[in-house]
Amino acid sequence: MLADKLKHPVFKLVAEATAETGYPAWVVGGWVRDLLLDRKSKDIDIVVQGSGIELAGVVEKKLGGSAKLVVYKNFGTAMLKAGDWEIEFVGARKESYRSDSRKPIVENGTFAEDISRRDFTINAMAICLTGSDFGKLEDLFNGYNDLKKKTIRTPLDPDITYSDDPLRMMRAVRFASQLNFTIHCDSFNAIKRNASRIKIVSMERIMDEFNKIMLSPKPSRGLKMLKTAGLLKEFFPELEAMHGVEVVEGKAHKDNFFHTLQVLDNLSEHSDNLWLRWAALLHDIAKPRTKQFDTKAGWTFHGHEFVGSKMVPRIFKRLRLPLDDKMKYVQKLVLLHLRPIVLSESIVTDSAVRRLLFEAGDDIDDLMTLCEADITSANEYKVQKYLDNFKLVREKLTEIEEKDRIRNWQPPVTGEDIMQTFDIKPSKEVGMIKTAIREAILDGVIPNQREEALEFMINEAKKLGLNPVDKKINH
Ligand code: CTP
Repeated sequence: MLADKLKHPVFKLVAEATAETGYPAWVVGGWVRDLLLDRKSKDIDIVVQGSGIELAGVVEKKLGGSAKLVVYKNFGTAMLKAGDWEIEFVGARKESYRSDSRKPIVENGTFAEDISRRDFTINAMAICLTGSDFGKLEDLFNGYNDLKKKTIRTPLDPDITYSDDPLRMMRAVRFASQLNFTIHCDSFNAIKRNASRIKIVSMERIMDEFNKIMLSPKPSRGLKMLKTAGLLKEFFPELEAMHGVEVVEGKAHKDNFFHTLQVLDNLSEHSDNLWLRWAALLHDIAKPRTKQFDTKAGWTFHGHEFVGSKMVPRIFKRLRLPLDDKMKYVQKLVLLHLRPIVLSESIVTDSAVRRLLFEAGDDIDDLMTLCEADITSANEYKVQKYLDNFKLVREKLTEIEEKDRIRNWQPPVTGEDIMQTFDIKPSKEVGMIKTAIREAILDGVIPNQREEALEFMINEAKKLGLNPVDKKINH
């Protein structure tokens, strides 16, 4: 009996309402699963054998104004919002599916019919809220046992469950990755057989699950499952293409798919920023496209950071991911991901550090975290050497930042200043002078001061045949 676990006051009120209406009710699905796993959960789903809307109305009255009820007549559901909590009431139903759509034909059904159409046994448990059975676990498919064994299994024949709603294939992988569970082999084989049906699911929903996999403690688990199950190639061919090793003249390059997963796992130990994790996922995405073999140099991937950053918008667009600052952030990190490594391999000059600070801006710390995660050599000595060098780069970054304040820096002379001084319109020349000033400051040729920058501007303009007109400009 789990009665003492049903602490939320709404459960008692539902129990009273079931007595008044004569409709039995159960709390079901994710809330029950999370209760038994000791995980936090806010959404409560209540299945009612009878009218969910009517029962919800009675509960609302009992709450006496402290909750808001929203009724979705078309779906036969009602949502009660009380504080942080969302409690959904739905009449028990049975569903039949068509082959071309995720949208089932829904009819009223019994509690058992409702439970058996659910995705996994661990999500098919319910706790009774009615009469003397209040608090009794109803576990028609041995979900509790699977929870203990950490297994994802479908209540019905998995071919039916996955073919009915192909999104469940993504959900299986997501729960396995999130909860560190294994997918039962019959289930996994069924996913392999049904993988191509993921096509009928909207990309938004696929990404919703994919991002939950990305945010799981060790994302590589889920990503490997997606790959092995044949799902990844259906919606993310660029990532799939990173898999494999080619050998020429006895020389092999590393498998970029597994390298990427390792970088992602390394990074996930230090950050749960979803978009930084995406940057890790995509940092080498252009390696398959830029791969070349050279007899002397071996395998090279020249320009993969540049080509990769260009691929980001197309990938984000197709995957229906946000095309705003988040995408630009990922693009920037992909573009700059080799810079700290290059820096740490040579003598760290002030100007190289200043340039990196200027280009990375506030994302410099994330970039360093990504680069540290990118060191995946099996040679411990090499790893340590790189990490020590990175420490030096980090120290140098702090030192230069304190001295020059170059992060988020704007050069001390603007395009407006240039146009005014030489009385010219926006033109190529303005850009050229502006760039020359910026480069001179970043290279340490002139200090980061307005006076010196103005003087430098006059000299640069002279080279282009421009002389200052006699107008006062603000020094
Ligand atoms: N469900 C299902 N098939 C789906 C989605 C959901 O059978 N494709 C059922 C499961 O019983 C699930 C319940 O509906 O437990 C609620 O679904 P949802 O709120 O999407 O997921 P949760 O299981 O609650 O998990 P989470 O909150 O982590 O998404």
